[in-house]
Amino acid sequence: MTILSILASGLFLLNTKTTTLAVVAKQGSDPRIFYYGTTVSGSDIDGLGRSGFTYQPCYTPFGLTGPQEHAISVIQSDGNNTLDLKITGSSLDEWEDGKILTVTSADPVYDIVVNNVFKTYYDEDIVEAWAEITNGGRKSATLTRYYSAQMPLHTGNVWISTLSGSWSNDANVYQEPLVRGTKLIKNMDGVRNSHSSHAEAMISLDGKPCENAGRVIGMALEWGGNYEMRFVTDDSDYHRIFAGICPDNAPYTLAKGETLATPPVAFSFSPEGMGGVSRNFHRWGRRWRLAHGDRERKILLNSWEGVGLDINEECADQMMGDIAAMGGELFVVDDGWFGDKYPRAVDNSSLGDWVADRNKIPGGVEGLVKMADDHGVSFGIWVEPEMTNTISELYDKHPDWVLKSDGRDLICGRGGTQLVLDLTNPEVRDFAFGVFDRLLTENPGIDYIKWDANMNISTYGSPYLKKQAHLDIEYWRGFTEVCQRLRAKYPNVTIQACGGGGGRTNWGVLPWFDEFWTSDNTDALQRLTIQWGTSYFFPAIAMAAHISACPNGLTHRVLPLKYRCDVAMSGRLGLEFQPKHMNDEEKEFCRKVIASYKEIRPVVQFGDLYRIVAPFDGKGYTSLMYVSEAKDKAVFYWWKQANFTDIHLERPLMAGLDPDKMYRLKELNRIDDNPLPFEGQVFSGRFLMDNGISLPMFNEVSGSTPEWSSRVIYLVAE
Ligand code: DGJ
Repeated sequence: MTILSILASGLFLLNTKTTTLAVVAKQGSDPRIFYYGTTVSGSDIDGLGRSGFTYQPCYTPFGLTGPQEHAISVIQSDGNNTLDLKITGSSLDEWEDGKILTVTSADPVYDIVVNNVFKTYYDEDIVEAWAEITNGGRKSATLTRYYSAQMPLHTGNVWISTLSGSWSNDANVYQEPLVRGTKLIKNMDGVRNSHSSHAEAMISLDGKPCENAGRVIGMALEWGGNYEMRFVTDDSDYHRIFAGICPDNAPYTLAKGETLATPPVAFSFSPEGMGGVSRNFHRWGRRWRLAHGDRERKILLNSWEGVGLDINEECADQMMGDIAAMGGELFVVDDGWFGDKYPRAVDNSSLGDWVADRNKIPGGVEGLVKMADDHGVSFGIWVEPEMTNTISELYDKHPDWVLKSDGRDLICGRGGTQLVLDLTNPEVRDFAFGVFDRLLTENPGIDYIKWDANMNISTYGSPYLKKQAHLDIEYWRGFTEVCQRLRAKYPNVTIQACGGGGGRTNWGVLPWFDEFWTSDNTDALQRLTIQWGTSYFFPAIAMAAHISACPNGLTHRVLPLKYRCDVAMSGRLGLEFQPKHMNDEEKEFCRKVIASYKEIRPVVQFGDLYRIVAPFDGKGYTSLMYVSEAKDKAVFYWWKQANFTDIHLERPLMAGLDPDKMYRLKELNRIDDNPLPFEGQVFSGRFLMDNGISLPMFNEVSGSTPEWSSRVIYLVAE
């Protein structure tokens, strides 16, 4: 194809460093995608068509396209529910890291205009796609489906990997072939959208999903509310993928002149397996989405699993002293510190009354901040600003500030009294912003906030909203406004997104947050699975992973301290127990672990992740590693998953190293009586990737019964 014929055909080649998305925007036709894969250039552009790729619809309207699955449907005020989208123009703009293509289509009869926007992130191999839908007509029109994007994929041996779980069992990986029919993934929680099904998926184009080989497309919907991802396989040569806000019971009425901008879906293509896609998402997330993606995270102690709601000044003082002595950098007071008229003694009261309970904390928050300072650690605090309890001063004063349906009884959550505040109401948004504003203005020493959310929307009703069906969208607009105000005034504070554990692990939420609480389950064995799935799309710098007590408070499993530390060290390391209950030897071990983590922190938090053996591979162990961008440092992790005898473990092959560099190996957190044979030895990257290293089935410690074992090995290039 010559340049002229390319332009005449309306073909746009959106290139990133190693990929091309070919979009066809021909005047008078409908928007189409021609190709998504590795970069095509020169005569291969011509070859696209000759090799049999065909232009496929990428935003199908309902009503005039026969049985094709659609991305958008509209009911006009006269009852007509057909839509015709014909391209009227396109524009290509540049931005710092790539291009923005806007393809504009309009209905020739009704005044509905749609912009399909594609934004490339060149360096990270990511393309975002979304739709902006405008009603230019004189009357309102109702959108009954308004997806963000539609992506065609040629059929083949295509598999899908998705993440799903529930509270404390977050982000399990499910893998299956895409077969005839429709696979629908959706979440209707309203407040936290990643406990059950996640809004991300990996699509492996070359058969069963592989970590470090094969062509894979990853997709992540950047939206914290209710969503749908629809995978349609029909009698054509293409699978059709759709993603966007869930329109169920949420028809959106577009007023005259109004535009609805749908949330972006981020796509990434990699020929290097799911690992390649993950690395792209991690780099993109750190550079463009995550708050402070270039700033090392502090090592913290959180009070929750150690003392629960029984936090008080004396125990905070002791815990701060302990974490400081272990080399930690931050202490976080979790739930239980607040409530005046109704002190938070159990979890059925006080949400909304964000003043210190002076019985527990006579010196107030300011006293705690000073105390932390005296111990030489930073201070963090827990809040749940979108919620209240029927037992609270806030609810006494403002019973109309909660989500409830007119004429119906309240449906309460946690403690039998919890309710979601109505963020569609500007007064409530002012209140929620004010929670932070007051805390941070009165206590500028607060360094970290844990923003929790422990309830779903159980009543789809707002006393404020005129159009009740807009609740989900308006709630998230309200949430976004609060976040924007918070970040505008307090750009530097570290904020954790917690949704009763991993309920808010979504790229639509994270721009205002530095990290997320990965799961309320801190059992190190189950964390292997939870952190594995979460790492598909989210980087270690954002993945809070805490060493917790033994037996584990939730699963009651008994695991060695080393194992618990070795698992937590593969994410953003923290501690979550009462140090008072540890003996000196255990405290000393934690002190060493923290010191080692500080050494490897830049590699874990900014390096590239290579997943090696999955916890569900059935090999008896899990293994992964991080490699620095310059490939001069790496950290290798290996955790045995079960106790057994006479099972001969495979040698895990390392990945991501520079084959020509020589690496010296050092085991961290060593407890064995004798060092392993490779300790202090030098190997080439090529040897380690071709042969790996043998790891014994047990940690050999005299006087102890071997069962679990784990290893963390630090590699430094000579
Ligand atoms: C749920 C969170 O996930 C926990 O870490 C803890 O903060 C509790 N809420 C406190 O109520």
